[in-house]
Amino acid sequence: MAEKILIIDDDLDTLKLVGLILQRQGYQIVAANSGSQGLAKAAAERPNLILLDVMMPDMEGYEVTRRLRADPELARTPIIMFTAKTMVDDKVAGFEAGVDDYMTKPTHPAELVSRVKALLARSAGSSHPLSSASAVAVDRAKVIGVFGAKGGLGVTTLALNVAVALAQLGQETIACEVRPGQGSLGLLLGFSHSTSLGNILSKDSKEVTPRLVEGQLVTHNTSGLRLILASSEPKEMKLNTALAQAEQMIQHLATLAKFLVVDLGVGLTDLNRKILPLCDRNIMIIEPMRVTVTMAKAILEDLDKSGLSPNRFEIVMLNRVRSSLQMPWQQAESMLGHQIASIVTPAPELAYQAAEAAAPMVQMQPDSLTADQARKMAETIIAGGRSRPTGMLSQR
Ligand SMILES: Nc1ncnc2c1ncn2[C@@H]1O[C@H](COP(=O)(O)OP(=O)(O)OP(=O)(O)O)[C@@H](O)[C@H]1O
Ligand SMILES: [Mg+2]
Repeated sequence: MAEKILIIDDDLDTLKLVGLILQRQGYQIVAANSGSQGLAKAAAERPNLILLDVMMPDMEGYEVTRRLRADPELARTPIIMFTAKTMVDDKVAGFEAGVDDYMTKPTHPAELVSRVKALLARSAGSSHPLSSASAVAVDRAKVIGVFGAKGGLGVTTLALNVAVALAQLGQETIACEVRPGQGSLGLLLGFSHSTSLGNILSKDSKEVTPRLVEGQLVTHNTSGLRLILASSEPKEMKLNTALAQAEQMIQHLATLAKFLVVDLGVGLTDLNRKILPLCDRNIMIIEPMRVTVTMAKAILEDLDKSGLSPNRFEIVMLNRVRSSLQMPWQQAESMLGHQIASIVTPAPELAYQAAEAAAPMVQMQPDSLTADQARKMAETIIAGGRSRPTGMLSQR
């Protein structure tokens, strides 16, 4: 049966032209010339995909998107926002409202068709109706928790790049940061006003349902990675005590993807003590410096006393600076009494450029050694094995 596409646009010429282009590709077209008519047709026709204009007299496309996302029956319908606006802020507003992709007018027919095809293929492979999370037994995601022995070591950057690498390898992946009031994952991707984590942790724990959690996911359009993002407003740091809500959120997210990468921030906070046991893989980031390795050792000893076997923890040594004056990895291993699973080489310029451009390093420079290392970690995660630092040692 032909896939059904709903086009919502107040401009009749666009409706006709886009409709014709897509009809020629064999799609069934439904058209609406206002936001409210669009919502009504979406409910009546259940399209496989919606093409949506932003500027419409009765209701802006952002509002149409929010209403669609709030309706459990329609929340997962893929949406491409189709607009004359080209400002980055408008795109960010679109993504935050919940659109999956964005196109600027005028667009080339070939680009339109390929974006529609790509999004339909992605949603066919990944989506299941919202209600399925509770109605059907869904395979649980492999949960990968990443935290630093100390602040600022590169946890968020690594978690993001491994998650994007997983998504690029065709794995349905969610990245989630559990750092209320200290979010930076969204900033690395160009999202502003990230409220998804706060919207979940501020609820009463009874209200943290699969539907609430799923409704808060935002999608990074170029990789398909879905995200729960923390705000960077310090007032949200008080949500650090919402332990039950955080635990429920992780449990629900684990039903919504194949892999769930969790940025846990720094050290053994109360939140992390709650979430680490839920993870299938725990990664602790260290750097080749005595102070950091000593802190990491204290964490491993505490884990041991708390009944969380330190053997379940993989240690990744992340070098952010090029220096000949660093602790050799063998010395770090013997200080820790624990193997180092992998080593990430310094890439300060790439890390800087990627952050400035709001693009993950694996996408910004896919041929770089850093991208290669993130992909290798992703492959090891998919294979379910353990990594060893062979092949990377010459970089130190
Ligand atoms: N491989 C790398 N080489 C060089 N610099 C890096 C690398 N990875 C990350 N960085 C840089 O290190 C800094 C800290 O990164 P990031 O914010 O990811 O760390 P973090 O551990 O999450 O910090 P926080 O404790 O504040 O959450 C950033 O400036 C980032 O660009
Ligand atoms: Mg961080």
